[in-house]
Amino acid sequence: MREKIDSILEEIKSFHAESLSQAEEFRVHLLSKKGKISVLFDEFRTVPNEMKKEMGQRLNELKIKAQEKLHELKEKLEGSESSLPTDLDLTLPAEPFVPGTRHPLTIIRNEIIDIFSRIGFTVAEGPEIEDDWHNFSALNFPPNHPARDMQDTFFITKEMALRTHTSSVQVRLMESTPPPLRAIMPGRVYRNEAISARAHCFFHQVEGLYVDKNVSFTDLKQAMLYFVREMFGEKTQIRLRPSYFPFTEPSAEMDISCNFCEGKGCNICKYSGWVEILGCGMVDPNVLENCKIDSKQYSGFAFGMGVERITMLRYQVKDLRLFSENDVRFLAQFRSAI
Ligand code: DAH
Repeated sequence: MREKIDSILEEIKSFHAESLSQAEEFRVHLLSKKGKISVLFDEFRTVPNEMKKEMGQRLNELKIKAQEKLHELKEKLEGSESSLPTDLDLTLPAEPFVPGTRHPLTIIRNEIIDIFSRIGFTVAEGPEIEDDWHNFSALNFPPNHPARDMQDTFFITKEMALRTHTSSVQVRLMESTPPPLRAIMPGRVYRNEAISARAHCFFHQVEGLYVDKNVSFTDLKQAMLYFVREMFGEKTQIRLRPSYFPFTEPSAEMDISCNFCEGKGCNICKYSGWVEILGCGMVDPNVLENCKIDSKQYSGFAFGMGVERITMLRYQVKDLRLFSENDVRFLAQFRSAI
């Protein structure tokens, strides 16, 4: 038995493997059930008692040596096999990396935020599920007043609805923060309308609010003129038409000179030279009082615009539905710096 052990030891010492499969063969050859070392363990039973101690020790050492050798071989081969040359050509140019594009509505919303932030407006947000107070009552819509029908509402309960405009955030802001206030409020709004090229059951608005001492209609006009010139170009003109909103007095709708035909008349402006872009006005004193702001000390202006509308005018998009259909061929056309 001693010779056998010595010869296996020799075999272990001199063994070299070129690959993991050769190492595995070697393991089977020595350590599997019928392997050489296992066979020696079987033979151990026949070793005379006085030699059992010595042979037992030698056998165990042999087994450990074999295991160590295999471990060593595996470590070496696993490391080198994975770094073996492959048929990868690292000099080939990489696949082009195509970054996504921002949604056109996001681009324009960011631009609106950017333009107003340059004249000191911060951004505020509010919930899309709103109560009657913030969406209607505080904004001077009396109960059962026909003005509530101006905005077909998705009611959840008698008291709760999907907000029909971002004017609700004005109320939340005035309730929570003492004036002076200067903020814009972007967000999604919902109306129970049939979907067409010009109307959708959800769309996006940006509301604006400025409350301070001595805020006048002139401030409103000037802020709006600044905005449209930044958004549509220096030559853009504005026109304010008297209108009605329960929460502003006086109220106006604002048109800009058509940026497609420069006022000459085209099918975008329906040959009038003007396109409507937002509603605005001086915050009704009732609304200030509803929000616990002293209307004798403070005044303010507000405005609200549809982001879809501005985006359609900027990019000449003719159908509102394109914004929510997620057609990549449409979406991939828009690039932006912000
Ligand atoms: N909330 C109005 C709408 O959804 C838009 C609007 C008009 C907002 C006049 C205003 C405003 O703040 O002063 O049609």
